[in-house]
Formats: sequence, structure tokens, C-alpha cells
Amino acid sequence: MYAALRSIGAYIPKNVLTNHDLEKMVDTSDEWITKRTGIKTRYIADKDESTSDLGVNAARNALERAGMQVTDVDMIVCATISPDYFCMPSTACMIAKKLEIANIPAFDISAACSGFIYALATAKAFIESGMAKNVLIIGAEKLSAIVDYTDRTTCILFGDGAGAAIVSATENKDEAIKDINIAADGKYYDYLITPGCGTNRPCSEEVLKERECYIKMKGNETFKVAVKTLTNDVIEILEKNKIKSEEIDFFVPHQANYRILNAVANALGLSQEQIVMTVSKYGNTSSASIPMAINEIYEQGLLKSGDLMLLDAFGGGFTWGSALVPF
Ligand code: ACO
Repeated sequence: MYAALRSIGAYIPKNVLTNHDLEKMVDTSDEWITKRTGIKTRYIADKDESTSDLGVNAARNALERAGMQVTDVDMIVCATISPDYFCMPSTACMIAKKLEIANIPAFDISAACSGFIYALATAKAFIESGMAKNVLIIGAEKLSAIVDYTDRTTCILFGDGAGAAIVSATENKDEAIKDINIAADGKYYDYLITPGCGTNRPCSEEVLKERECYIKMKGNETFKVAVKTLTNDVIEILEKNKIKSEEIDFFVPHQANYRILNAVANALGLSQEQIVMTVSKYGNTSSASIPMAINEIYEQGLLKSGDLMLLDAFGGGFTWGSALVPF
């Protein structure tokens, strides 16, 4: 049995946060943000909207497009770094509850911006082993809850959103996910980190005062490792599968920064038509960014059945991954 991407869905919160809004909050400018990141706007969830609410909306969208009922789903995997609850229950359990599905496995994956590719790999492995037939995978983030809006080096980057996909068993090899590579290197653990409120630095007045429950980032160092690692990773997966870059219909990278995306795309010799770029509109939505980007080309009518996508992502941990996925 093979695993195939059956449908895609997304949910974008309604509140827009522009670069000009951020100019009023921290010492920054639209010009600086645009030049360094390519980001113009990002979307922010309502106060009473949690990560699972965003995920449920994306999931319903993907289920509807697959022509499936919630009862057809036999496993839920949610990738997130901004869970509804700190330790438990998992956001996947909250999504299952809100979708009114029970008695199936539901769990979260913590792989930061690579979370969607990790979730895809998990779904593929469960399907190929015969343990699942229809897996609902979700990348959902309410990053606005863990972003420090007094820190100009991070608050300009991130946004909220969710994407979801149904991954189903198939006997047709042509529509199967061709290959997925996932990896990590923990020596970079403190390049992208929320240092406080875990067991290493339990929540305390000092931790809260130092704003350690928010994302901290060594941006410049992250940038350099990201470009090098991603470039090697995508070259490796293409060579391994004997696929030339011109055979890729869409390169769908994690949307962190247009300079990272372009550097990797240039190394592969990809044309602008092949690169899917949504970072200017949504900012960096971590695990949600790849399914939101796939959803964007789907809704624009660009993504057609049989198109081959090359996905790639890099994030905190560090974690990274790439995948060759026919639609
Ligand atoms: N507005 C104005 N100035 C700023 C801002 C801001 N928002 N943020 C930083 N600066 C200043 C810095 O203080 C510094 O000033 P100094 O020279 O006086 O010290 C100057 O701008 C340059 O700072 P750098 O950090 O060197 O800027 P850089 O060119 O590296 O751009 C950025 C920063 C955009 C964060 C970049 O490093 C980046 O995108 N890194 C990748 C990190 C990332 O995307 N992480 C997300 C998760 S991982 C992933 O998805 C890949």
C-alpha cells in the first residue's frame, strides 16, 4: 500500500497586522522589514481563537475537498509549536474533540517549522505499515501568543494560521508520495528557542519578567545554517529520486524569508513560476506555512491533479525535511 496526498485545506484568521502597524509598536520600518524578509502583512487570530480552532477550520476544509466524513478519518496528527495547552492534552486531541471524532489515535508533533513534513512522513509510515488508511494531518499555529511584541527582531516575522491535508492509502504508485527526508541536529537548540516555562526553566516570576516564554532567535546564524542545510537537502532528495529540477511543477518551501527561499531556489536553478511564495502575505506561520502555501496555489487554480511538488522546510531544533509529493 502507498500513501497519497488526497486533499488540502487552510484557514487564515481575519485580523491583518501590517508592517505599518508594527512601526507603531517597535522601532522598525516597512522598508527594513520588506527588504530583509519580504513580509508585508501577517494574519492574527482573535483572542478567543485557539490553535485547535484554527486547525479545526483547516481540517473541515480539507475533509470537504476530499469528499470525506469525519468518521472516515482513522488518525489525527497535529504539528504545532503553539499548542492550546502547555503539557496536555495535545492539540490533536482538542481537534478530535471539536470534530467529534473519538477512539482513533491523535497526537502532536513538535518539529517547529518542519512540523508539516514530519507529520506527512508520520502519516506515510502509518499508511505503508497498514496501521492507518486516512490520516488527517494539520499544521496549526497561534504564534501571536508566543511572540514578544516588544522584540523587533522576532515580532515582525510571525503570523497565525492553519493548513490541513488528508493523506490516504492507495494502490496506485503514480499518485503516491515519492519520498520524504526528515532530519534534526540538536546542537543548534538555542538558535530558536522559547527558553522559559519548560522543565528546564519552570515558570516563575523571574522567567516571566525576562520574557522567556516567548520565541528568542539568533536570526543571522539561523539564516546561514538554513540556506546551507536546505540547499543540500533538496539536492539530495532530487538526486536520490533521479528527478531534474525542471520536472518539478511547484517548489513549496517553508515560508520564512524570501531571501532564504530564493537562495535555495537559485541553487536548484528553478524559475520564478516554479516557486510558491506566500511569505509577503502571511509571514512565517511555522508548521502551517507549507499547507497554507499549497492551499494558495490550489485556490488560484494553478495546482492541477498530477503536478509534482517539492516541499522543504527548516526550523527550530534544528529540524529540516523535504518531500516529493504528487497532487
Ligand atoms: N527593524 C529594524 N532594524 C532591525 C530589526 C527590525 N525589525 N530587527 C533587527 N534590526 C537591526 C538589528 O538590531 C541590527 O542592527 P545593528 O547592526 O545596529 O546591530 C541590524 O538590523 C541587522 O540585524 P541582523 O540580525 O544582522 O539582520 P539580518 O539581515 O540577519 O535580518 C532576519 C534579520 C530577517 C531575522 C534574518 O536574519 C532572518 O530572516 N533569519 C532567519 C530566521 C528565521 O526566519 N527564523 C524563523 C524560523 S526558522 C526558519 O523558518 C528558517
